[in-house]
Amino acid sequence: MTYTIRPASSADIPALLDLHNWSIAELDGTWIEKPETLEGRTKWFNDRMAADFPVLVAEDAAGQVVGYASYGTYRGRDGYDLTVEHSIYIYPHAQGHGLGRRFLDMLVDIARERGKHMMVAIIDAQNRISIVLHEKSGFVQGGALPQAGKKKGKWRDQVTLYLLLDDREAPGA
Ligand SMILES: CC(C)(COP(=O)(O)OP(=O)(O)OC[C@H]1O[C@@H](n2cnc3c(N)ncnc32)[C@H](O)[C@@H]1OP(=O)(O)O)[C@@H](O)C(=O)NCCC(=O)NCCS
Repeated sequence: MTYTIRPASSADIPALLDLHNWSIAELDGTWIEKPETLEGRTKWFNDRMAADFPVLVAEDAAGQVVGYASYGTYRGRDGYDLTVEHSIYIYPHAQGHGLGRRFLDMLVDIARERGKHMMVAIIDAQNRISIVLHEKSGFVQGGALPQAGKKKGKWRDQVTLYLLLDDREAPGA
């Protein structure tokens, strides 16, 4: 199957909402219990566009969206302005075809072009595929937090992986 990756537009918001709500309902690694609303996902999308953060979608030959990737702020404080936290979500039928790697490579390129210094992935410790994907792309384990979250009545452990995007000696004023 051939997949095309392109920047998302506002016309993709319903598909982005479906992907997000699928991950909330089905994945133990998405530590959210309550489904998102169209209004909420529209605000999320508009906020990402306003902040010049990328939102990418992958579509199949029939034009159906099968996954998305994006990054946004890490913790929100201005001291973290040069660090971004990303996410990649792909429906099961489109997993294992190299899309995750393509998405990740594109996010890294965009973050570098936009002057970011670090990318951070916060991953459920049981999500071996995501951890391996990141390690193969040069991400380094930056620490683990046992029982940092919960989902469906169970504790979930977190691992953090990071990638330094440049070697600047200081961040500048
Ligand atoms: C995790 C995820 C993004 C990976 O994307 P993907 O398109 O399935 O993965 P890729 O085909 O690009 O494979 C990337 C690497 O992951 C590993 N991998 C992929 N599928 C695998 C599988 N079924 N079993 C073991 N390893 C696997 C491979 O090592 C592969 O490396 P390679 O290209 O050198 O062979 C995707 O599976 C997904 O969206 N999962 C559900 C949501 C999720 O967990 N998101 C990440 C949250 S942090």
